[in-house]
Amino acid sequence: MEDGESSGLREVASRLTAPGKGILASDESTGTIGKRLEKAGLQNNEEIRKAYREQFYTAGIGCSISGAILFKETLAQNSSQDIPFVDCLTRQAVLPGIKVDQGLAPLEGCEGETSTRGLESLEAECRAYRKQGARFCKWRAALRIGDSTPSQKAIDVNAQQLAQYAAIAQACDLVPIVEPEILIDGDYDIHRSSSVSQEVFQACVAQLWRHNVDLEATLLKPMMVMPGADASSKASPEDVAQATLDVLRRCIPPAIPGVMFLSGGLSEEEATVYLDSINKLALQQESRHWALSFSFGRALQASVLKLWVAEREGNAPAGKSKEMASAIAAANAAASLGQYVG
Ligand code: 13P
Repeated sequence: MEDGESSGLREVASRLTAPGKGILASDESTGTIGKRLEKAGLQNNEEIRKAYREQFYTAGIGCSISGAILFKETLAQNSSQDIPFVDCLTRQAVLPGIKVDQGLAPLEGCEGETSTRGLESLEAECRAYRKQGARFCKWRAALRIGDSTPSQKAIDVNAQQLAQYAAIAQACDLVPIVEPEILIDGDYDIHRSSSVSQEVFQACVAQLWRHNVDLEATLLKPMMVMPGADASSKASPEDVAQATLDVLRRCIPPAIPGVMFLSGGLSEEEATVYLDSINKLALQQESRHWALSFSFGRALQASVLKLWVAEREGNAPAGKSKEMASAIAAANAAASLGQYVG
């Protein structure tokens, strides 16, 4: 992509990475959101999914949230006041985004590993989503750390797909979020997380170059560098911050305007404290080359869902879940500046 061609995209990337703001990931597929709703005792039907998501899109989140990633079903829905969700968001200066991958598929010859589906129809879908009001999009790859994984093939195939996706998204006037998620599952330590993250990020950036992707109009969405969920020793927030910044500094060009972390199974408090710690350290070390913010799903939603269920059952006052959605977003916005007070 030539310079100049993408100035509109760069402007969108810059709005998404505005200081003190982050992204709400609310693009769970019907199956994934269904598991969370069912765990909370609710049915997984369109009406309930819509009502649940409305809590966030009408919560007054615009001072902490720059963009919201939607699932395709939601992009076309209206609120209970019959206002398109896209308009509910844009009225608060929140940019609408869209998940464009179609989930994971087994990777041939690599047991337990995956690539991501959706490249065949991607261009047509991106064009349609852009017409529906989306300004940015997300593609998720997942890499698993095990004794002999991720394999070189999994790293290479996923990096290639992420870059192909990013190039297509930009050609369709959408800012791509590139998400090479390193899964939290496993007992690996922080050093292994660090070396795998490094390999994965280097492969992704090399492929972005190869596919002529405009880095200034691309955002990265990684997991923080930290031990797996079953590791015998936990890392302190300061260790996570140091390891994460070391890896980012080595691998991610400052031309990429934002590193928007996922929460990947961390608790709400952990995700916020780690993000805050990363920003505090980056400010101290003068190494804030990118916006270091959030694109959290579960870490912005878990408590809100519980409260919303309580509200529906008459066990909590109406409106409380919206207040909570806005308060959790504000706490993470503070963390994205290194100003979180727990
Ligand atoms: P989590 O923050 O729950 O990991 O969700 C972020 C996301 O969008 C995963 O693709």
